[in-house]
Amino acid sequence: MNYKIAVIKGDGIGPEIVTEAMRVLDAVGKRFGHTFLYEEVLAGGAAIDATGSCLPPETVRACLASDSVLLGAVGGPKWDKEQPPENRPEKALLGLRKELGLFANIRPATLYAPLAGACPIKPEIIGGGFDLVVLRELTGDVYFGKKYRDADGVAHDDMNYSVAEVERIAHRAFQMARQRKKHVTSVDKANVLETSRLWRETVQRVALAYPDVQADYMYVDNAAMQLVRNPGQFDVLLTGNLFGDILSDEASMITGSIGMLPSASLGETSRGMYEPIHGSAPDIAGKGIANPIATILSCGMMLRYSFDLSAEADAIDAAVNEVLAAGLRTADLAKPGEQPLSTRQMGDAVVKAVAG
Ligand code: IPM
Ligand code: MG
Repeated sequence: MNYKIAVIKGDGIGPEIVTEAMRVLDAVGKRFGHTFLYEEVLAGGAAIDATGSCLPPETVRACLASDSVLLGAVGGPKWDKEQPPENRPEKALLGLRKELGLFANIRPATLYAPLAGACPIKPEIIGGGFDLVVLRELTGDVYFGKKYRDADGVAHDDMNYSVAEVERIAHRAFQMARQRKKHVTSVDKANVLETSRLWRETVQRVALAYPDVQADYMYVDNAAMQLVRNPGQFDVLLTGNLFGDILSDEASMITGSIGMLPSASLGETSRGMYEPIHGSAPDIAGKGIANPIATILSCGMMLRYSFDLSAEADAIDAAVNEVLAAGLRTADLAKPGEQPLSTRQMGDAVVKAVAG
């Protein structure tokens, strides 16, 4: 089979990590007899430099014409000051999510056994480890509400959620939990926010259709605390756009490194966008030391969720496990005194493990 992938390498470390992920995809293609056809398009800072716009219309067109989108990361200090808010590199990301209708953002956080030592939480707290998924609503909330400053110079960001928006993500959460440990924790701030009260009521109603799944409700401040106190209690952590942004960074760090976490953004069709949850890391860009694993694992999610190629996805996950078990580490994971691998060397190791 042929699969068309729109590739947005992006800014900072984006090009370095995406290049390795594409080599891993090619190794999968070779082993399993698939062809991945890449169309490289621009978004973010690179697109501003080349065209003046953070999200050129041809990029959106190419993404809509693809079977899936692979994205590195966008943004950097270079564009922070000189661009108006509506043309910041990050705006490209939000625009893509909206244009492609990607309302469901899946961010799994798993503690890989060989990395247990890199986890900042004490072993007696981590116990048997954890395997949770943050399911973040991605096209609503304060991210997409009206933003403005009024005549008095007061800044406004409108936070809003409709019942339909909450319902569709809640159904995804319960369906996902059925494939896992049958437990959804819905996170909100219903003790203060009206959007959260609507969120909670709606999730409670949707939960009635899934009596086999345990549903719990937690305030976001408590959830942030519980994530470092006892992450093993979570299975599917369902939450809105803003809280999900924050909690998924926290969840990533307890896995040992933010360089490990992949993500999938899905809508109603099989087309998705796949990207690491970390950013463009301008401080280490161009040095060839970034960890490509989050992007490589994101390709695994693409194979699984968009192309329905689970054996191929398993091959990527197994290859990553194998290189970690062999003690291979990029700089973000290496212990003091350990000689870290470069981005390319880590890519090489995973490619070799995939080839078998
Ligand atoms: C993420 C990022 C983005 C977000 C930024 C870059 C706009 O932090 O994907 O988590 O806030 O969604
Ligand atoms: Mg974020």
